[in-house]
Parts: sequence; structure tokens; C-alpha cells
Amino acid sequence: MFSCKTSPEVGGMGHSVKRKEDARFLHGKGKYTDDVKLPGMLSMVMVRSPYAYAKIKSIDKEKALAIPGVLAVITGEDLAQYNLHWMPTLLSDSQMVLPTDTVMHQSQEVCAVIATDRYIAVDGAEAVDVQYEPMKAIVNPYKALEEDAPLLRPDKEGQKDNHIYHWERGEREKTDAAIAAADVVVKERIHLPRIHVASIETCGIVASYDKDTEKMLIYLTSQAPHAIRTILALVAGHVGLSEEKIRIIAPDIGGGFGGKVPVYPGYVVAIAASFLIGKPVKWIEDRSENLINGFARDYHMDCELAATKDGKIQAFKVSTLADHGYTDSSANPSKYPTGMFSICTGSYDYEHAFAELDAVYTNKAPGGVAYRCSFRVTEAVHAIERMVDKLAAEIGKDPAQLRFENFIKKEQFPYASPLGWSYDSGDYKATLEKAMEMIGYDDYKKEQAEKRAQGKLMGIGICTFTEVVGAGPSKDFDILGIAMFDSAEIRVHPTGKALARFGTKSQGQGHETTYAQILAEELGIPYTDIEIDEGDTDTAPYGLGTYASRSTPTAGAAAAIAARKLKDKGKKIAAHLLEVSEDDIEWEVGKYFVKGAPEKSKTIQEVAFAAYTNIPPGMEPGFEATHYYDPPNLTFPNGAYICVVEVEEETGAIDVKRFVAIDDCGNIINPMIVEGQVHGGLTQGIAPAMYEGIVYDDEGNVLNGTLMDYLVPTAVESPHWETGHTITPSPHHPLGAKGVAESPTVGAPPAIANAIIDALYPLGIKHLDIPITPDKVWEAIQESKAKA
Ligand code: CDP
Repeated sequence: MFSCKTSPEVGGMGHSVKRKEDARFLHGKGKYTDDVKLPGMLSMVMVRSPYAYAKIKSIDKEKALAIPGVLAVITGEDLAQYNLHWMPTLLSDSQMVLPTDTVMHQSQEVCAVIATDRYIAVDGAEAVDVQYEPMKAIVNPYKALEEDAPLLRPDKEGQKDNHIYHWERGEREKTDAAIAAADVVVKERIHLPRIHVASIETCGIVASYDKDTEKMLIYLTSQAPHAIRTILALVAGHVGLSEEKIRIIAPDIGGGFGGKVPVYPGYVVAIAASFLIGKPVKWIEDRSENLINGFARDYHMDCELAATKDGKIQAFKVSTLADHGYTDSSANPSKYPTGMFSICTGSYDYEHAFAELDAVYTNKAPGGVAYRCSFRVTEAVHAIERMVDKLAAEIGKDPAQLRFENFIKKEQFPYASPLGWSYDSGDYKATLEKAMEMIGYDDYKKEQAEKRAQGKLMGIGICTFTEVVGAGPSKDFDILGIAMFDSAEIRVHPTGKALARFGTKSQGQGHETTYAQILAEELGIPYTDIEIDEGDTDTAPYGLGTYASRSTPTAGAAAAIAARKLKDKGKKIAAHLLEVSEDDIEWEVGKYFVKGAPEKSKTIQEVAFAAYTNIPPGMEPGFEATHYYDPPNLTFPNGAYICVVEVEEETGAIDVKRFVAIDDCGNIINPMIVEGQVHGGLTQGIAPAMYEGIVYDDEGNVLNGTLMDYLVPTAVESPHWETGHTITPSPHHPLGAKGVAESPTVGAPPAIANAIIDALYPLGIKHLDIPITPDKVWEAIQESKAKA
């Protein structure tokens, strides 16, 4: 287990110190994009399409422009004059900023109204008269691939059908042969539907162009301000917005979950409007706009798992149809169009695997935007974990026992997975054992047998997942060509207090505290003496931002190494001050001392002062260091989750009785923050498992586009989460830490789904897609009774 090196006052790693940022948030003093008010600021509101697929016959601005205070109505035709009506997505597809002739999904931006305040802009948007010619929308991705399906993207050169790309990894023939020869093969088509990001704060921007300095100042709800600045410069460089003229400040952010990674049309229009009008322009999405645009997942996965009759897993194959909506806006590294989906072989040791995926266009909003896991680990883990449970049920083996018999063993790490990853570390057996002990697995098994004998429906579900976070090594990972390293810059002031800046951006994860703790651990400067600054592209070092649990594996590592650079410089200064050779200086947290004479010492604060006042001859003054960290590998956190449910046969109501989550994210910086991350992630895991899912009708209308009919779970719906840890440090991360934020969202849905299916198994129900709602359960029960 990890033991703390520092005192609670210094607050290095392992201390559950309170979050420094919370005083500001709890007092309502957070400063979000919508709090930015600039002199002369205008407001922008979007006119959106009621149709999923339609030709635009005309846009009449006249009535809107007649409203006092409405200053402009911007259309695609207007932007086309500056070649700004299309933009690239993060995955090299193209997306309309504003349409010139066709709308491709319901609620697509059609034009923008700029007015002196928001109320007038809303009135203006209602007064714009858009005439459409509706067309038959393609909603079903399988239908989109049929030969007679209309071509949705004729704008793309060489595009002959609605197929976007084919991706595959692994050995098809060997996997097929292993499946053909196996004693047991279980199969299932599993769908993970679209869901909303549903962050508390919606997306927004304030763009402020200063004609005198030619600088564009942008306040933006962005998880990746540097990358967005580069993309904006690439899109708008030709009209004079080059990168050094753009400053993006991401202020406080009320939840990102991946939804604040992309560039949205509203951002580009607000920037264009401010550039042309020369006044600040604010655009803030309302809740329904946020809910109807930007969705995660939508994977239809055909899975096959092969094993011996005793349950030794031999091969796994998964063929996926991915519904990307009208453009592929996934925020994935360019060499990984399906993200880290190839982690789908899971925590088990077997030789043969093959994964393939076909992506397709439909008349839905741009797909692939994250829901706390854009890199497709949620989908991958759901596939393998449902299939392992299905195999256990098929051969009549306890699902925990089946997992123990197939786990990659502790001594097999680093483990080369059949689809090409090198898992860094883990002790899967210990993690599952801990979860089983904590929940009292054997007792629940007995209780279940008794309840089944009484005709009651009780289920126990397990998920033992392997995550993959920390993108990533630059040889493999880039977004639009920008390598996915991250950065930290530390300045220790003469009085020993410090300022550290990062290329990442917290959206509630507590970076202002945990980064300070990393520096406290390395330098011995109390975490309360260290200010953390993120999100301003004019001041922070370049970095790729915060998403997919990459901050600790990348920027956290950069902080540790930058601090070590400082410590090396400090050693030279300490030797100079203590008048001994550098070789005679030793370090203990917070001070340098002379070997064998610990009373002769200099604190880090004394050394910092000397760095500005009394340096050795020839040394550069100052006490600052920067590091850009290019990780050698990703980190592979893991977890064992167990869920116990009871289902009421008469109504289909599901009661989650217990949920135990054991996570292994290597060494922990702040246990309390990790606990909070896990609680939030588990709640975001129960959400798609039991409640959330976007429903479309055949015309492509979203039927649950408000929070009145789209249920986001609250404390009322959430069970009491019981959490714990095992710790297997990452061997390649300088602090032995792995990311954690995403793990619970990945691990919870299959644990819950497995528990519900286990409860329903005596009725012959062997699979249900998430969200598993009471009405879905009730219908399945009625069907099974009708068959009986
Ligand atoms: O990239 P993001 O911040 O979303 O994810 P993360 O790297 O998993 O970190 C989430 C929060 O948990 C941060 O405040 C981390 O410093 C903290 N954390 C930790 O204390 N110990 C770990 N081993 C991993 C994360």
C-alpha cells in the first residue's frame, strides 16, 4: 500500500486534503463563460431546424431585422463569402458551420441572430422565416447502407454511399477458425444507444475582437483550449485570425465529460460575428440545444465469444456498425478512428481476437462526442463483460469463478493483448477478491438460491474491466496531427511560494488541489503555497487538454518531472550555500542537507530565495522549470464492480440493493478526490444502464429533448456506492499513478446489466440492451411468459 511521505500540512500524495477550489464554488463565486460581461457585448441565438433532413428553400430575415435591437441575421450564404461555412471535425471529416442549402439533422443550426441582448435575439430567431422542403430522413444505420439509400453527403468528393470508413484490428482468419473449432460459442448483438453529455453548464463562448490590436479574445467552455486555438487558426487563418492573434481563456467549467472538446458551429459564428462587427458576441446554448446536439456512442456490436466446455476463453470477435450521424465528429486520435475500442479483449488471457467496425452516416446530430469516455472504452468493456457473463450462464459456471480462471495473471504484466496493447500492470485476482469479500459474495449467492426457490427475481452482476487512459505516446497519438503530450511549467518565487501552469483544464476534477499536491510531494512546498493555473492559451504551456482521464497520466507526470528538474538545480544552489560539493548533498522532502551532517541544511524556500539572490557563479538566476511529457505508454487502470439487484416481476421495477466498486488506479494523489470522481462516474454509469437513452422516431425527431422526459439520475435514483481500492502502480509513470475519472462510467453499466439479466435468467431472458428500464423488463417478462 502507498504510504505518505509528507505531513498533512505539506499535503503531498496520499493526503485527502480539502479542495482548494471549493471555497470559490461553494460560495457561488465560480466564474463561468456566461458570467463574462464585456462593454458593448451582443448576444447571439441560433435558429434551428425542426426537420431531420430538408432542403432550405428560403431564409427571410426581414421581420427579424425589423425588431429594434436585432443587428444581424447571419446565414450560411453570408459565411460562404469568407469560406467559413464549413469546418473540419476533429477526425478530419467536415461539418457545416451554417448550411447553404440542406439541413442534415433535427436542431441543426440554420442561421444566427445577433442582437443587443438575449431576449431580443430570441424574439429575432422566432421572427426569421425559413421555408423548408422536408425529405425522408435516414434514421436506421442499417438502412443507411442499403443500396437504394439516398446519398447523404454528396458534398464529399468520391463519396458513393453512406459508408464512412472500415476499421479492423486482429487476425480475422485465426479468430474465425478458433470460433469454428470451439466447444461453446456465445453470440449477441449489443446496442449502446446515444446519450446526452448533460453537463450542468451548457456550451458557450464570448468572442471579442479588438480591431486596433487585431487580437481575438475568446472565453470558451473548452476542455482543450490550445488545440481549439490551433484549429481556429487553421480554419480562419485566411481571414487574418492567425494563431498568435487568438487568445482562448477557458474559465471555470461546469462539467465537460467530452462534450466540451469539439468546436461547435456556434463558436465559429460568434467569432465571425465579432470579427465582422468589432464588438464582443456571446453565445450560450440553452438546455434543449445542449441536449439535442452532441451525442455519445450509438454502437451496434455483433459479438462472439468462444471457449472450451470448461470455460477457458479462446477467442473473441466483434463486428460493429457505428452510427455517426451526418458527420464523424468523434474526438479521437487520428490513428484511432474508433478510439481505444480494441481494449475489448478485456482482462482475460487468450490468443485470438478480431474487431472490425463500419461507420455510417445518418440524419442525426454529429455523433461520437463523449459521455465521460469518448475513446470507446465503455462500448468495448460492455461488449466483453456482457459476453463473459453470457458464457458463464451458458456453461453453468459462476461468473466470478469463470473470470478467475481466465484473468491475465499478475506476473504476466506487461501483457501484450491480442489486439495490440501493452497493459502496464494489474492484479485482477486481488481486485475481484476484494470486491467479493466487501459485498459478501458467497452469502448473496446463497440468498439468491433461496429467493429463486421462492420464485423471486434477484441478480448478482460482476464487471472486471481493464481501462486504457493517458493518451498518449506521440508516436501513436495525435489530434489533427498535434501530438498528444502534455505540459507543466513551475515558477517558484523568491519567497518560496509557487505558481504552476498546465496545458490541461479542470472541469470539476480538482486539478487546483491535486497538481499542487504533486508539487508538494516532489518539492516539499506546502500545497497551499502553490497556485495552479490552467486554461489560458496566452500564459499556459501548450497541451492537449483534459478528457478521457488523461490529466494525471500526462500533465501530472509533467509536473513531477518539472519539479525534479527544479530539485536538481536546487541541489547545486544548496551545495553553494552550504559550501560543500554537490555530491555531498542529500534531499529529504522540503530540504537539502549535508551527508552525515543533517543539522547543516537549507530548506527549499531558502534555496528558492538564493536562486534570485545568491547563485553559484555561472548559473542562470531564477527558480523555474518546464516539462513537456510524452508518455512512453498509456496507463491501464482496472476495477472489479459487483452489483446486486432485485426485480419486481409484476411491474419490472429494478431495485439496486448493493453496488461495490474496487478501483485500481495505481498510486493515488488525493483519496478523497478519487472517491468523488468514482461516485460521480458510477452515477454516470447507472445513468445509461437504467435511465438514459435518446429516443428517435422514424422521421429523426428526438422524442426526449428536455430534462422533463430525459431522466438524468440524481441522488434519489443512485444507490449507496461502496468503494475501495487495490494499488498496482504504473511502472512507467513517474508517480506510479494511472487515470481514474473515466473508469466508473466504463465499469458500472455492464455490472448493472449483468445483475439485471442474472435476475431475469430463470425466466429465460438472456439479454437486454441498456438502458434497461422497467417497461423494457416488463415487456420482456410478458414475452417470456407468452412463450412458456
Ligand atoms: O483527466 P482527468 O482530470 O479528467 O482525469 P484523472 O487524471 O483521472 O484525474 C481526475 C482527478 O483525480 C484529478 O484531480 C486527479 O489528480 C485525481 N487522481 C488522483 O488523485 N489519483 C490518481 N491516481 C488519479 C487521479
